[in-house]
Amino acid sequence: MTKISAAITAVGGYVPPDVLTNLDLEKMVDTNDEWILSRTGIKERRILKGEGLATSDMAVEAVNELLRKRGITANDLDLIIFCTVTGDKIFPSSACILADKIGAKNAFGYDLSAACSGFLFGLETATRFIECGRYKNVLVVGGDKMSSIIDYTDRNTCIIFGDGLGCVLLEPTEEENIGVIDSVLKIDGSGRNFLYQKAGGSQYPPTHETIDAREHFVYQDGKTVFKFAVTGMADVSAQIMERNNLTADDIAWLVPHQANLRIIDATAERMGLGKDKVMINIDHFGNTTNGTLPLLLWEWEKKLKKGDNLVLAAFGGGFTWGAIYIKWAYNS
Ligand code: COA
Repeated sequence: MTKISAAITAVGGYVPPDVLTNLDLEKMVDTNDEWILSRTGIKERRILKGEGLATSDMAVEAVNELLRKRGITANDLDLIIFCTVTGDKIFPSSACILADKIGAKNAFGYDLSAACSGFLFGLETATRFIECGRYKNVLVVGGDKMSSIIDYTDRNTCIIFGDGLGCVLLEPTEEENIGVIDSVLKIDGSGRNFLYQKAGGSQYPPTHETIDAREHFVYQDGKTVFKFAVTGMADVSAQIMERNNLTADDIAWLVPHQANLRIIDATAERMGLGKDKVMINIDHFGNTTNGTLPLLLWEWEKKLKKGDNLVLAAFGGGFTWGAIYIKWAYNS
């Protein structure tokens, strides 16, 4: 029997128009443009503004673009995997809300929570659904309205995150050696207290006290996260190269999660890649959590050629991390 592989066949993206610059942040917390740029590589990020607007509203824009580009309708979707830490509500899932908003009547779906590695884990899951032969059009959405859980009085976190969302469509292919080829994915829950939301879940449901203590915002021990991220992302990226006998020359693009330019540089260096092979959007979008990887593919889509070897790599709260090797399936 011919082997069925999963290939990305379309990409969509959306970032809100409102920009929050380092100079804006200087007016909000004790920080400065020079510090933020030199320590993180970020100049500005996007913020979703507007009463009642949520992560699913960004998804509607991105997914409609994707459907248009691929020439299919929402009813052609079989499965929606919505990777996010800022779903519209704790329940129902943002996958349900999105399916209703775009009119996807034939899909089932669910949300996937793995912090900044969510999109990678979603991509892996979607790949297996395709490979089993039963699903034909699987949508993986990754994105966050991080501004809804960021404390704009905390300079440790508010300088890093931004809002944005991207999505990809996976379809089966019988072509050999194309699509999603290999993955190395990991979790280590002993890292759970270094990057997280202290309250709002079942352990500490919202109370006046938790709100007064600002425990519904992202808490980050930046130094510890940095230490784990810098080795974690580089380790899995090196591992996936080794496992697939890839040299630096074989790789067209590293598609790295964008939390800090120094973490990205360390990963690229470990892989032996020059800066010209590394996708970067941290300067203009900051860390968009689940949005980062699909937004990079969205911005770079026109430069990608069929057969290009891509290594997608991420690290996030939990801890969660991993790398996926893809052979790009189409020319735009
Ligand atoms: N503006 C100005 N100064 C700041 C600042 C800010 N926003 N934040 C911290 N500082 C100061 C600190 O107070 C400290 O001053 P001191 O030396 O006088 O004590 C100094 O800058 C260095 O602080 P430090 O916390 O060591 O900075 P850092 O180099 O570790 O950078 C992060 C902080 C958050 C940018 C960095 O730790 C990081 O990127 N961590 C990982 C983030 C990440 O990957 N998160 C998401 C994973 S998905």
